Amino acid sequence: MAPKGDNVVVSNMKLENMFCMKGGKGEASYANNSQAQALHARSMLHLLEETLDGIQLKPAGFPFVMADLGCSSGSNTIYIVDTIIKHMIKRYEAMGYEPPEFSAFFSDLPSNDFNTLFQLLPPIANYGGSMEECLVANKHRSYFAAGVPGSFYKRLFPARSIDVFHSAFSLHWLSQVPESVLDKRTTAYNKGRVFIHGASENTANAYRKQFQTDLAGFLRSRAQEMKRGGSMFLVCLGRTSVDPTDQGGAGRLFGTHFQDAWDDLVQEDLISSETRDNFNIPVYAPSLQDFKEVVEADGSFAINKLEVFKGGSPLVVNRRDDAAEVGRALANSCRSVAGVLVDAHIGDGLSEELFLRVERRGVRHAKELIEQLQFFHIVASLSLA
Ligand SMILES: C[S@@+](CC[C@H](N)C(=O)[O-])C[C@H]1O[C@@H](n2cnc3c(N)ncnc32)[C@H](O)[C@@H]1O
Repeated sequence: MAPKGDNVVVSNMKLENMFCMKGGKGEASYANNSQAQALHARSMLHLLEETLDGIQLKPAGFPFVMADLGCSSGSNTIYIVDTIIKHMIKRYEAMGYEPPEFSAFFSDLPSNDFNTLFQLLPPIANYGGSMEECLVANKHRSYFAAGVPGSFYKRLFPARSIDVFHSAFSLHWLSQVPESVLDKRTTAYNKGRVFIHGASENTANAYRKQFQTDLAGFLRSRAQEMKRGGSMFLVCLGRTSVDPTDQGGAGRLFGTHFQDAWDDLVQEDLISSETRDNFNIPVYAPSLQDFKEVVEADGSFAINKLEVFKGGSPLVVNRRDDAAEVGRALANSCRSVAGVLVDAHIGDGLSEELFLRVERRGVRHAKELIEQLQFFHIVASLSLA
């Protein structure tokens, strides 16, 4: 991590060595700001279950292995793993088979706060008992758990070792900000902006190309790692517009008040305009077509389902008419996912100033935020072609 106040150009650093959601359990941590993702994931459970129904059950003696990619450090991943196991047990039992042993890999970048995640894991049930005993034992887990550090854009597991891959709200994070976007000498230079939303066509093309390269790397790796008869369930931020410079909900989150807060810092002479321009959010919310093109060009996976799903607001508040709460929720929501990048770029002190301005702007625009900030997700269910 860069020392305080250092101006680090994010694409020149190995993003995968420093990027993560805000760890720990503090106010702006991901663990405390992922209720929206939890709600959105629950609204898509029927789609996850459809994917699980497509998995071929293996004969007795083989463990069932799952991996959650981009698991982060909150409890959402634990809920999903539990849900997958419960559903698979039901399937085994419906067929009259003894359920197998389960193994779950929690995978994320090495800088992820795995310690916080592991502390949230319930203790393993006593494996001396039967599977039924494990399942009814509340607050116990009925699977073996392990953390796997690494980028999902590369290989993470041995060949043909995983029955089901799950990844939620992660694949819109690019492996890096496209280099040309931060290079003054190119037409893709994103002058004055910190995100693709509202940017030029050339900037948008650079972001789209990075998304294509990254997703292709993801699919290539998973195609080798997935067992025959396995399945993959993917959810990432998406957009309904064909125009990539309209990033929908992601655009509203990073391209409006967050953008304006960077401009505030420039206008108040707290940072130079160049410092702002050297920062860009490495997120790309694809359209259905963007996503489909990459899957089809790769050719390793058959598409069982691919749709845009209305996810809802990223802001979870107790009182929708409480502007102060809405402003705080906006700042915490931005900070929990992008705070680590901002801290590395301008240091903790200026980062504090930035998110204070996001909050103030959020307070002023609370009504509009509550009414208009909506996420759409791309949901994909894939199996080996
Ligand atoms: C918004 S969190 C989603 C967490 C969790 N899946 C959930 O549903 O709450 C996105 C996660 O993706 C991870 N991530 C981003 N790029 C990644 C990459 N290249 N490889 C692995 N994980 C990545 C981030 O570190 C972060 O933990």
